Amino acid sequence: MQIAQMEQWLNERKTAGLYRQTQVVQPLAQGKLLASGKVYRNFSGNDYLGLASDEALRVEQAQALLAYGTGSTGSPAVTGYHPAHQRLSQELCDWLGVDAVLLFSSGFAANQALISGLVAKADLLLMDKLAHASMIDAATQLPNGFKRFLHNDLLALERAFCQNTGPHVVATEGVFSMDGDSPPMAELVALCQQNQAPLLLDDAHGLGVVGHEGAGTMSSQGLENAQLQCLMANFGKALGAQGGFLAADAVTIDYLRQTSRHYIYSTALSPGYCEGIRLAIKACRAQQWRRDKLQDNIGSFRNMAQQAGISLMPSLSAIQPLIIGESERAMTISQQLKERGIWLTAIRPPTVPKGQARLRITLSSSHSQEDLQCLVQNLCQVLAI
Ligand SMILES: Cc1ncc(COP(=O)(O)O)c(C=O)c1O
Repeated sequence: MQIAQMEQWLNERKTAGLYRQTQVVQPLAQGKLLASGKVYRNFSGNDYLGLASDEALRVEQAQALLAYGTGSTGSPAVTGYHPAHQRLSQELCDWLGVDAVLLFSSGFAANQALISGLVAKADLLLMDKLAHASMIDAATQLPNGFKRFLHNDLLALERAFCQNTGPHVVATEGVFSMDGDSPPMAELVALCQQNQAPLLLDDAHGLGVVGHEGAGTMSSQGLENAQLQCLMANFGKALGAQGGFLAADAVTIDYLRQTSRHYIYSTALSPGYCEGIRLAIKACRAQQWRRDKLQDNIGSFRNMAQQAGISLMPSLSAIQPLIIGESERAMTISQQLKERGIWLTAIRPPTVPKGQARLRITLSSSHSQEDLQCLVQNLCQVLAI
């Protein structure tokens, strides 16, 4: 593409209020962040349990980095599979009740491997309409294409099974990243079984946050991760780290290990870092108080918002979206909140559907009641409620 074409495109984005900017920010403890020398209350991060800024954990992780080093020196298939990778994989298996896992340098890469690896040539992928971009991007490359069903609508999925001849594979999320809601997993598992369709679940926003010891959405709905064909999640949300993984039975993981280009042709995660993630998992499993505090915060925030007349979407998770509508208005409100010391990024199309720009409020166990009150008061002022 010519530079002039790019300039024109960038200008059009700016005019439409869709231009994305990167800002230098530094997450701090207690649900705060530092930007341009000013401290803000942070309602946009994914550090749901406060583990990214936990001092004691940080010290342990720094020691792990010293002991194991930063470089894995290669792809896992060559020299990049260290004892730290093995220990992290074992910890994940114990935690999630699965036979085997495969580690990736990001959740994005894990989802690419998931869709490209487990949807066979003859399969038709049926995917929730609000599935994450990392699954959609992989789905667009499938030889047989894919169909999207209405968000969390099992009747729509049933119709899709009937209207399109099989075989099928189904993909969805445990907690939707932009709406914060969850599918009814027991019914979904049953429907997939009836149609002999393997079920793939991205639980990036459920892992650590819900379920027994934070084992995720399946566990929170009384099910087991082993009932899925494959579970995907990442380390960049509740675990306060970075990277992703796929978890399944031994055969599925072995097949992916042989075939996944994202795994074979990519440098493995840093060993010291893997040990740091394992330490974060240990803390996450043991410290139930973090999940309890987060649930209290979610309940308090929803009550305060309701009393103040702020209408939220029906989400019970740490993700509490407030639909604004037009992108420019969402940007203006976000800026007004920033001037009042609140960091709440506007999410705009194409990340969310057109006309549904929103403030994606994310809550953390690190937030205090005062943080929540401050957010609600300021929302009322900028929304003129
Ligand atoms: C639902 C979902 N899946 C996958 C990803 C990608 O994970 P990562 O950020 O680790 O690449 C994200 C993160 O943005 C996500 O929200």
